[in-house]
Amino acid sequence: MEHSEEELKNITSQLGCPEGEHGIKTGEMMHASNIGMTTSAIDALDLQNNQTVLEIGHGNGGHIAQLLSQAENLNYFGADISATIIAEAEKINQDLIPEGKVHFKLTDGITLPFDENRFDKIFTVNTIYFWKNPGEYLAEIKRTLKLNGNLVICFADKTFMQNLPFTNYGFKLYDGEEVKELLKNSGFTVENIRSKTEQIKSKTGEQVERKFHVVVASIK
Ligand SMILES: C[S@@+](CC[C@H](N)C(=O)[O-])C[C@H]1O[C@@H](n2cnc3c(N)ncnc32)[C@H](O)[C@@H]1O
Repeated sequence: MEHSEEELKNITSQLGCPEGEHGIKTGEMMHASNIGMTTSAIDALDLQNNQTVLEIGHGNGGHIAQLLSQAENLNYFGADISATIIAEAEKINQDLIPEGKVHFKLTDGITLPFDENRFDKIFTVNTIYFWKNPGEYLAEIKRTLKLNGNLVICFADKTFMQNLPFTNYGFKLYDGEEVKELLKNSGFTVENIRSKTEQIKSKTGEQVERKFHVVVASIK
C-alpha cells in the first residue's frame, strides 16, 4: 500500500500523540496490534500484592483490567501526553476508577509529576521512540521509582522499525544494546533483556514479523 509523505507524517504524529477522532481509532488499533508486547511487559513486571505501578504512554488502556488481575490490591497510575488518550482510557476503565485503583495523569512527556520513591514498578511499551531527551526522562523515572524497584521498557527493534515507511518522520530507533547503554548511563542496573518475535498486521496494513525487546532494569 502506497502512502503520501503527508499521510506518513500523520501516522507518526498520531502514534506519538493520538488526537481527536482519528486518535481514538489509532488508540484502538495500537491496543489490538501491540497487546502481545504489552502482555510481555506486564509478565516481566512480576507484580506482587499491594504494589503501585506507573505506566508511561498507556494508549487507550484496554489492558489495565488484565494488569490488575496479576496480583491482589494493585494500584495503577497511567501517564500520557495525549488528552484524547487519557479521555479514552478513562472511558474504557470507568468501572475501575471509582474503586480508587486506577488513576490517569496528563503529562508533558519530559517530567513525571509524582513524588520521589512513589512506584514499585514502572513500565512503558512503544514510547521510547518518542522520548525527546531519554537521559532526562530516565532520571525522572529513577527519581520516582523505589530503591530495588523495576523498570520494564518494551520496544520493537530498530531492524524491524526502520522498514516501516513512517518511522523516517520523527521516531528515534534503538536496538537492545543501545537501550542497555542508555539505562546504564542513567544509573540503572540491567537485570535481563528478552528478545522475541511475533506476527502482526502493520500500521499500514501488511502482515509482518516484528522483533521486540523486553528490558528489565532496577536501581540498587
Ligand atoms: C505508539 S503509542 C503506544 C501505546 C501503547 N503503549 C501500545 O504499545 O499500544 C505511544 C503512546 O505514548 C504516548 N506518549 C508518547 N510520548 C510520550 C512521553 N514522552 N511520555 C508519556 N507518554 C508518551 C502517546 O500519547 C501514546 O499514547
